[in-house]
Amino acid sequence: MTDLKCASGGADGAPSDPRHVAIVMDGNGRWAARRSAPRLYGHNAGMNAMTEIVRHASDSGVGYLTVYAFSTENWKRGSDEVSGIFGLLVKFVELKLRELVENNVVVSVIGDYEPIPGEAKAALERTIEDTSRNTGMKFIIALNYGSRADILNAAKTLAREAAEAAGEGANAAASEITEADFAAKLSTAGVPDPDLIIRTSGEKRLSNFLLWEAAYSELVFTDVLWPDFTPAEFDRCVEEYRSRDRRYGGRT
Ligand code: FPP
Repeated sequence: MTDLKCASGGADGAPSDPRHVAIVMDGNGRWAARRSAPRLYGHNAGMNAMTEIVRHASDSGVGYLTVYAFSTENWKRGSDEVSGIFGLLVKFVELKLRELVENNVVVSVIGDYEPIPGEAKAALERTIEDTSRNTGMKFIIALNYGSRADILNAAKTLAREAAEAAGEGANAAASEITEADFAAKLSTAGVPDPDLIIRTSGEKRLSNFLLWEAAYSELVFTDVLWPDFTPAEFDRCVEEYRSRDRRYGGRT
């Protein structure tokens, strides 16, 4: 991939390199099944793939990388698998925090991480704190995240504020709400919309991920299972993105 720090792009109508890449990391279970191994073995390999991609995206000059690590629906999985995934999160922080700090990566979380087991929550809070003074790529972990819940929460906040404003005699508060006002209430406030969303493992859906933010994202689907997703495959997805014609509803 071109060094995105130097990216200009767009002069020939092709999009410039993506500032924000979001990834649905899918296929850990199937990767493990093909090896007759437990699902957690696949998640562990997925964690290693994630580490490689964070490093590569940061080195390539990507501004924002968001990964879907655990959805609000993933609690339906067996308790062993759920606690195993959170155990991996702790392991990830223990093994990789120093590298993230040294690589100037800023870690944040979207989603409600309140119900997450104590040790994993503490590990996350330590990561957020220890990387908060960095200035490089923003690595956003979607954890216990669901886009509909996020949108609903934004709607409730705006409705409450509009009702309060009406109580204070302000007219037309609700009808004056703009898209920017709405976006400012989402957990992704301040983050540019993803230019590129990648989903691995051949599934072709968004699964409640960044539904508002994906309005004009380019979607790239690859058959590669997440644990096999390499920096070279990331670059191939970016190349596919670069071949797209982004019109945002306009004409060619
Ligand atoms: C989807 O594969 C993957 C997940 C639900 C979990 C993602 C977790 C990791 C990549 C491990 C690292 C995470 C953290 C938070 C450090 P799947 O299990 O749905 O695979 P399948 O569709 O083949 O069954």
